[in-house]
Amino acid sequence: MTGNAAIATTPLPEPHFDRLSELATALSSAQLHWASGYLYGRAESVLNLPSSVTEAASAETLTIAYGSQTGNSRRLAEALAAQSEAAGLAVRLVSLADLRARELPSLSLFYAVISTQGDGDPPDDARRFLDELGGRRAPKLDGLRFAVLALGDSSYPLFCATGRALDERLAELGGRRVVDRADADLDFERDAAPWLTDALDTAKRELDTTAASTAATGTTPRLHLVSSATATPVLSAPNEAEVIVRHPLTTERAVRGVHHVELDIAGSGIAYQPGDALAVHVSNPEPLVEAVLDAAGLDGDTDVIIDDHQASLRDWLRNRRELTRLSLKFLRQHADRDDSQSALSAALRDSDPQAIRRWFGSRQLVDALREAPADWSAESLVKALPPLGSRAYSIASSRAEVGDDEVHLCVAEFDGEHDGRRWQGLASGQLSRLDEGASLRVSLEANPRFRLPDDDSTDILMIGAGSGVAPYRGFLQQRFATGGNGRNWLLFGNRHAREDFLYQAEWLDALRRGSLHRIDVAFSRDGDAVRYVQDRLLAEGRDVFDWIESGGRLYVCGDASRMAPDVDAALRRILETHAGIDEEGARERLNDLAAEGRYLRDVY
Ligand SMILES: Cc1cc2nc3c(=O)[nH]c(=O)nc-3n(C[C@H](O)[C@H](O)[C@H](O)COP(=O)(O)OP(=O)(O)OC[C@H]3O[C@@H](n4cnc5c(N)ncnc54)[C@H](O)[C@@H]3O)c2cc1C
Ligand SMILES: Cc1cc2nc3c(=O)[nH]c(=O)nc-3n(C[C@H](O)[C@H](O)[C@H](O)COP(=O)(O)O)c2cc1C
Repeated sequence: MTGNAAIATTPLPEPHFDRLSELATALSSAQLHWASGYLYGRAESVLNLPSSVTEAASAETLTIAYGSQTGNSRRLAEALAAQSEAAGLAVRLVSLADLRARELPSLSLFYAVISTQGDGDPPDDARRFLDELGGRRAPKLDGLRFAVLALGDSSYPLFCATGRALDERLAELGGRRVVDRADADLDFERDAAPWLTDALDTAKRELDTTAASTAATGTTPRLHLVSSATATPVLSAPNEAEVIVRHPLTTERAVRGVHHVELDIAGSGIAYQPGDALAVHVSNPEPLVEAVLDAAGLDGDTDVIIDDHQASLRDWLRNRRELTRLSLKFLRQHADRDDSQSALSAALRDSDPQAIRRWFGSRQLVDALREAPADWSAESLVKALPPLGSRAYSIASSRAEVGDDEVHLCVAEFDGEHDGRRWQGLASGQLSRLDEGASLRVSLEANPRFRLPDDDSTDILMIGAGSGVAPYRGFLQQRFATGGNGRNWLLFGNRHAREDFLYQAEWLDALRRGSLHRIDVAFSRDGDAVRYVQDRLLAEGRDVFDWIESGGRLYVCGDASRMAPDVDAALRRILETHAGIDEEGARERLNDLAAEGRYLRDVY
């Protein structure tokens, strides 16, 4: 390693050492390697190591940029930056929020690590950069050397769409791809490892390191951490929580049931802030596991060893693999193994995005196995299925109001029927049936991008549909407790005022006591002309514009596929109409608001 010969190392205090050892035993060897790079990168940036060198100004610099919502891409970019620097390269690490497209032509070598969010959308911090790059005024990039690492989740129909689009656009503008794009799935550390190695080797070959290579004689270029998104999402280890209460927020006639869940998290060490989410870790239900075994014609007692982990097939399926979310990767392999010529396999082989989207929305693994029987071995099935992930739920409370030991959630049921079989979402299915005293495993999924303003006198406009209203309950509790004089405006939408006006009594109470200053609603099936939150937003356009102009902050939470893009379009229309600017100007204005942290979205 470079640059730290002069740094005295300090042994860890015992409790920290114990926690680190415990964590290390749970990691595979590939993960341990990744973690070592990550920790090194953190040490460099946190300690702000004194560099024994003057800046290697004449050295060609490797610019590593990341676009990241929950921190995965950022962490990989940091690890690559740390390893590149350790290899003697001059490195600049930057959030895409802080990079402008016009800077690209002057870069020596440009690497981007970027995730996909929403329904094939960019992460918020990359919006402005990608808009600039996609626009008419995008710079010519003749000769720019670049490479892209895309992160995603193949259970989404538009897998790694943002990374793919960026990779193609850089080439279209004249850039020269020096490493082929890799698309990393949920197990992104493992998927990204070959790309990272290749990217580092390529950078060593491509860059003139003459000035930087003085590192070999003790002069090392510094790792630059240039980012406005400084806060690190904290993913705590799972802890037990106990259900205090669970009750429906909707009537029995509601199209989709929504539940209020209160959990006791005493002793968990979880110290959340309004805007954070709670990750819920659940296992697959036994009947579903047995149904999958039956449909696959496999014996659940078969031993399966993958990555040093040995367990029965039944255990793998129950605790370590997704059974309720189909993934594109799995579907492709499934189609290859199915030689029954079923209509399903034909659709899959065609890779028709619309057909795949319909598939994802209505079937689970057990349906795929039944409809298109394929020849899977226990090991190949486990290898093909995505790892079981946690599910995030926006926190609907503030510790200032409910105390440190409680957390509240607002959970929408996710279920349907396919071919006579009722299916349920894994986590929402379990959460919406929890009894008082039941326990479940949870961890904190901090969301530093979705926070209340530090300044209590800032006005906020909270736009949310369905369970998207959850974080605003926490926001209001917090603003009431801190007693600032900023105005709070809630714009809420759902289907029927009588069936699913979530937390109605609480909003009315908040209006009465003055912590909520305004509420506007849109109920899509009540027959009003104003159907959705975006329609309500347009109808109140003048006031929305005035709030923006007077420095207010906009929050959007809830459905990513329709609500969020429609709200975005409505905001652009409002800016066009009331600021008298054209569509491109309105888009830029909205991007600027996002970059300034005044237009914040938490959509899923
Ligand atoms: C930051 C964040 C905050 C969230 N906050 C809330 C909240 O406050 N309240 C709330 O109710 N939910 C919230 N969610 C959504 C929540 O995390 C779960 O996604 C949701 O509850 C469904 O999970 P599940 O385990 O019940 O269903 P799953 O078991 O994951 O899926 C059930 C079914 O949904 C379909 N499906 C699954 N994945 C996809 C896909 N990718 N595309 C299309 N169809 C699919 C399939 O048909 C599947 O059978 C949030 C998500 C995020 C990322
Ligand atoms: C709400 C939400 C929506 C997502 N949408 C997509 C998507 O459309 N396509 C995709 O490939 N991945 C999607 N993902 C998966 C992320 O890209 C993946 O989790 C990635 O590792 C996140 O990296 P980041 O933390 O750098 O943002 C989505 C994740 C979330 C939480």
